Amino acid sequence: MSHIVIQGGRKLEGTLTVQGAKNSVLPILAATILHPGRTTLRGCPHLSDVEASIRILRHLGCKADWAGEDLVVDASALDRWDVPDHLMREMRSSVVFLGAILARMGWAELSHPGGCELGPRPIDLHLSALRQLGACLREESGCICCTAQHMAGREIVLNMPSVGATENAMLAACGAEGETVLVNAAREPEIWDLQNFLCGMGCKVRGAGSSTICIQGRQPTSDSLHTVMPDRIVAATYLAAVAAAGGEVELRRVSHGHLSTVTAALHAAGCQISGGEGQVVLRSQGRLRSIGTVRTAPYPGFPTDAQAILMAALLRAKGATVFVENIFENRYRHVDELCRMGADISVADRVAVVTGVPELCGAKVRCTDLRGGAALMVAGLTAKGETRIEDIFHIQRGYEDPVRDLSALGAEIRLE
Ligand code: UD1
Repeated sequence: MSHIVIQGGRKLEGTLTVQGAKNSVLPILAATILHPGRTTLRGCPHLSDVEASIRILRHLGCKADWAGEDLVVDASALDRWDVPDHLMREMRSSVVFLGAILARMGWAELSHPGGCELGPRPIDLHLSALRQLGACLREESGCICCTAQHMAGREIVLNMPSVGATENAMLAACGAEGETVLVNAAREPEIWDLQNFLCGMGCKVRGAGSSTICIQGRQPTSDSLHTVMPDRIVAATYLAAVAAAGGEVELRRVSHGHLSTVTAALHAAGCQISGGEGQVVLRSQGRLRSIGTVRTAPYPGFPTDAQAILMAALLRAKGATVFVENIFENRYRHVDELCRMGADISVADRVAVVTGVPELCGAKVRCTDLRGGAALMVAGLTAKGETRIEDIFHIQRGYEDPVRDLSALGAEIRLE
């Protein structure tokens, strides 16, 4: 089992190109099965979650192979409609295969994804959307069995703008007769990337980015090539790292607009930030100030996925910052680990108060989840002495090679 070891205290400087977005490519990989032919994904990040999706695709009978930086999926021979328990357990977001398998096969069997490190992760909204399209669902012994011989488009109102439920409903609706209108849909940029992908293969989808998405089902599909959008949370991680450690970074292949709440927070903390076409530059003296209250919210609000990362950047800031986590029930598990490094954080229910300390000390810490792990890297880069991060398989779910990227900026970081 490998660890990440960081010798903190170095200023960071350089240029990085941001990898493709995990949260975009996972639903897109599920969507590839809507087309009984070849799909090429360009800029697909090399991540353990992507490998888990590839295993599901191969189990279903698809071919999925890397061709350099491209991932080529051929779903023409798809002949199964089940995802077994061991593959579902590898990745919670594999539930998005449900809508895609139903649309292609009219039948699907998946084991229940269950809870995860962020607390309970119900899928009631996903299942309700599929039922409204005409799918019959039975849940028995942790298994969800769906039949959907005649799905018909209709208006579906989500009572919360869930990202996963929006994606599942979009994919299922591609196999339904007529038009589906999703109301109160999630507005995250990854939904827009999924729409672009679907349109590129011939589906008729519009409205992504707004809260109403219209899908015209049962359209003829064709082979396509899609470039995966850049990962805004990976970009946020590297911006936070340089903000906290001090220095200057130019991120390439990013969308400045997608990062606006994160860059606004880092600007308020004292960083200089400028952005151009596909590029963001951040300069920091390394000594930040607190920024009042940060509330996570669905896009375009402050992303829950950047909460731990920003918190790590502000551990040594002058003053106190309050975090309010509104999306997930249990998203402060990184706090105990950050406190091992000398951070001063108190948590009550969904609120965490971070009071800046003059110095953090390197320590042996453990990743509790993907973004919590990223937060430990950010904190380690600014801590005095050595930080040893264990259970880095969480980080590898979403970061292609953070040791390569941070070393390129001059960090003293290694895999051991
Ligand atoms: C996605 C992202 C995750 C991000 C999250 C919120 C992927 C692979 N993951 O997760 O990184 O943190 O969006 O931006 O894209 N909920 C229900 N019932 C449901 C579905 C969700 O109550 O059927 C609740 C969840 O418990 C949570 C909230 O809705 O409290 C938001 O969840 P959702 O937007 O669905 O997040 P995910 O799609 O799981």
